[in-house]
Amino acid sequence: MENTPKKEVVFSAIQPSGTITLGNYLGAVRNWVSLQDEYNCIYALADLHTITVRQNPAQFRKNIIDAYASIIACGVDVEKSVFFIQSHVHTHAELAWILNCYTQFGELSRMTQFKDKSAKHADNINAGLFTYPVLMAGDILLYQADKVPVGADQKQHIEITCDIAKRFNGIYGDVFKIPEGFIPKNGARVMSLQNPLNKMSKSDENVNGCVHLLDPPEVIMKKFKRAVTDSEACVRYAEGKDGVNNLMTIYSAVTGKTFEQIENEFAGKGYGDFKTAVGEAVVEELRPIRERYEQLVKDKAYLEECYHKADEIALKISSRTLGKVMKKVGYVR
Ligand code: TRP
Repeated sequence: MENTPKKEVVFSAIQPSGTITLGNYLGAVRNWVSLQDEYNCIYALADLHTITVRQNPAQFRKNIIDAYASIIACGVDVEKSVFFIQSHVHTHAELAWILNCYTQFGELSRMTQFKDKSAKHADNINAGLFTYPVLMAGDILLYQADKVPVGADQKQHIEITCDIAKRFNGIYGDVFKIPEGFIPKNGARVMSLQNPLNKMSKSDENVNGCVHLLDPPEVIMKKFKRAVTDSEACVRYAEGKDGVNNLMTIYSAVTGKTFEQIENEFAGKGYGDFKTAVGEAVVEELRPIRERYEQLVKDKAYLEECYHKADEIALKISSRTLGKVMKKVGYVR
C-alpha cells in the first residue's frame, strides 16, 4: 500500500558458540520474536565471529544447526523475518575487510570485550578477535539497519559501528544509515544460578549455574533447586540479595508478574517453595520450545530450505550496500 509507512529495519545476530541458554532466550531471542510484526527483522547466526575462539569442527557444525533450529523453535518465524547464516553470505567478510581499513588500531584496542577475551584466551589472541567489532559493524551496516537490539555487553560495539559509519560517510557521502542500538526493556539480564554476580554463561565452570534451552525438565528443576540464595529466607528484591534477585528476574520474565506481586505470592514462604515455582515456570515456558526443536532438528531438509531462502535474500540486500561502498572507494565495477 502506498500510504503505509515503510517499516524500520531491525538487525541482530547471535553466535552459535554452544547451546542456547535461558539467558540468551530471555535476554535476546524472545525479544527478536516480539519485534517481528512491527519491524522488518533481519537476524543472523554470526558463525564467522565464532571462530575467533578455536572450535572443534564436528561440534561447531552441530552447534550451528542446533542453534538455527532452536531459534526457530523459540518463535523466530522464517515467513516474517529473514534468518540467515552469516558465513553463507559472502558480503559480510568482504565489507569487514574494507571497513578494517577505516578503523584505527587505537579504537579497537580500547574495546573492553577484546581486553576481556584476550585475558581469557591468552594463548590465542588472534587478529580476528581484535577486529571482531569491525565484522559486527559490517553485519549491521550492510542492511542499513535502523535499530539493533543487543545486550548491554554489546553497547560499545554499537558505538564503534556508528563511529566507523560516520567516518566513512564523512569521506564518501551518505552510504550507511547510522544505526541505533537499543537494550530492549523486557530483556532480562539473567545471571548464573551458582554465582549470581556473573552473567549466565555456557562456559560457567559449575554446570548447575547455567540452564540450557533444551535441558530436560528434571535437569531444570534440579538446577533451580540448587540455586544459590541467601540466609534471610525472605523473597524480596533488594541490594545484596543477588541470588534471589536473579530468581525473581527469571520468574518475572517468564510469568509476567511484577516483583511486588512475586513478593506477595511468596510472603511467609521459604526459598524451597520459591525455587520450585521458578523451576516449574521455566519448565513450562521451555517445554513447547524443546518439543518444537525435536521436530525441527529431525527435518534437516526443511532447515536447509529455510536458511537457503534467507541467505539468498540477505545476499541480495547486502550486495546493494557493498556495491555502493566499492564504487565509492574507487574499485572498478
Ligand atoms: N557480537 C554479538 C554477540 O556476541 C553477536 C553479533 C554479531 C551481533 N554480529 C552482530 C549482534 C550484529 C548484533 C548485531 O552477542
